[in-house]
Amino acid sequence: MKRPVDVVGAAAFLDGHLPSVPRLAIVVGSGLGALQSALADAVHIPFAEVPGLPATTVAGHSGAFVHGRLGDTEVLVQAGRFHLYEGLPLDVVVGPVRILARLGVESLVFTNAAGAIHPLMQPGDVVILEDLLNLQFRSPLGGPVREGEERFPDMSDPLDRGMRSVLREAATALGVGVQEGVYAAVSGPAYETRAEVRMLQRMGADLVGMSTVPEIVVAAARGLPCGALSLVTNRATGLSTTSLSHREVLEMGRLAGDRVVSLLRQAAPKLGQSGEAK
Ligand code: HPA
Repeated sequence: MKRPVDVVGAAAFLDGHLPSVPRLAIVVGSGLGALQSALADAVHIPFAEVPGLPATTVAGHSGAFVHGRLGDTEVLVQAGRFHLYEGLPLDVVVGPVRILARLGVESLVFTNAAGAIHPLMQPGDVVILEDLLNLQFRSPLGGPVREGEERFPDMSDPLDRGMRSVLREAATALGVGVQEGVYAAVSGPAYETRAEVRMLQRMGADLVGMSTVPEIVVAAARGLPCGALSLVTNRATGLSTTSLSHREVLEMGRLAGDRVVSLLRQAAPKLGQSGEAK
């Protein structure tokens, strides 16, 4: 798809088809379909119906905007995302975030599946992201500056401190142990070699995955506060004795996805009022 995503047209379409525009949007990654099932009064709008967005291709990604209530909080879920490894331009990868911003959501929470590099992070753990490494070596902000975006956004603290503490407090309230960590985004789709994992470890990465960073870069350029959670689906390559498959990643997403959902349900009322205040 060569034409840029029609952000204005897509947002207008969603505005006309959603019951309302919630303050909080949640972007869910590989296999975290549990969040969609947890929504009450759900209204689904498949990506394929939104003008200018392609349908998703990866198994485990259904590809829809879903409006509903998570507990008592109204949210808009972006279920499924576009990845660089699908051969799509970054403009498409970050298209939904630009659309959500244009629509008027005020804060974003991203979830993803990740491999754990930190020795204390194990499959099934939920990790609050505290910082990022962009090892995809390109930016979605290249080219003309988009309306509502900054040319040179500050990335010194890309994950909102207030949202991070709301997520930590929600975990404490639920009695769920969570760690915080640095997420490195690589391009994929091949999983890492053992030497690459050793390199990532020395660079300061606790987790490795193939998404989220371009989306947070765009959110930063638009001044939208972000939080992010990784669900550890596996120990990174070479750090476990077994080889790694996409099926294993999806399976762990299904097994531990409920913990992510409970955490988001608990945190949602406060995540929607974010912005460094806490
Ligand atoms: N590497 C990269 N991406 C991933 C991994 C991994 O080990 N697990 C889930 N997504």
